[in-house]
Amino acid sequence: MNQATARAGANIALVKYWGKRDPQLNLPAAGSISITLAGLETRTTVTPDPTLGSDRFFLDGVEQSPGRVGAMLDLLREMAGETTPCRVDSCNNFPTGAGLASSASGFAALVTAGARAFELEISEDRRSGLARLGSGSAARSIFGGFVEMDAGELEDGSDAVAHPLLAADAWPLEVVVAVTESSSKAVGSRDGMNHTMQTSPYYPAWVETVAADLETARAAIVARDFEALAEVSEHSALKMHASMLAARPGLVYWNPATLACLHAVRALRSGGVGVFFTVDAGPQVKAVCLPGEGERVVDVLRGQPGVHDVMVTGLGAGAGAVA
Ligand code: PMV
Repeated sequence: MNQATARAGANIALVKYWGKRDPQLNLPAAGSISITLAGLETRTTVTPDPTLGSDRFFLDGVEQSPGRVGAMLDLLREMAGETTPCRVDSCNNFPTGAGLASSASGFAALVTAGARAFELEISEDRRSGLARLGSGSAARSIFGGFVEMDAGELEDGSDAVAHPLLAADAWPLEVVVAVTESSSKAVGSRDGMNHTMQTSPYYPAWVETVAADLETARAAIVARDFEALAEVSEHSALKMHASMLAARPGLVYWNPATLACLHAVRALRSGGVGVFFTVDAGPQVKAVCLPGEGERVVDVLRGQPGVHDVMVTGLGAGAGAVA
């Protein structure tokens, strides 16, 4: 056992994951495709410490209840045949809990650091499956570049893991994030998904149509066909939000600035700029751009009323140890 640090990038789904086939094992109802980001990352240090009475978890320096972090450590300890409590220090270089996928980078970094701390030799597949137990989207942050998550079919969930589709440098798209609100979101993705599954008449249609979107997106990525990727990604994001809006009561994650950014992105694309939008369970807008278009998109999104901050980043590597 020793102290270990790992980093992982946030990821943004282009074909979204929304809904579970098994809530206990956190198994997705359908697959998803994402891009892992270079600039939005979590760094996590796991320190096994026999003098601690129980696990302690600090997020950006503030102590939190260990909750799902403790549950993940329990799994790693069981695999290693250990019982030592740990201190976990995790830092995000972006706003937490506001729809910027902090749970994805967080659990991917935790699993990677924890496995090292307990000297577990586990494959990326296995780390992806473990990260999924913390947060469905975290399974994808184990890998870099373009990543696909499989829904799997097995009851034990062992085939519900992610795999890489294309390396980050093979198609170095740029990603602009427009922050339209810095506080935490009202309804977390776990509760929002359950509520949509239970009450939205559009949920079955959403699940039924994901496979076709995955096929379209996969082909677009392999062919580096930006127009096709733009079309299917915006469709997937809007369709996911349609299923949320049709829940009872409806989940409205957008604010006026979110909508202003969506229109601005569409206007840019009509004008010939290679850019499309996507929005997760929060009000932030992510604009995915062809290489070289990022700065132009930043200028336009910065000018939208209600936009607090704009960041630009690229595609990055999967989760890894930090020496
Ligand atoms: O991994 P979770 O439970 O935070 O869910 C993520 C859900 C979305 O971000 C809205 C979509 C996705 O595929 O990342």
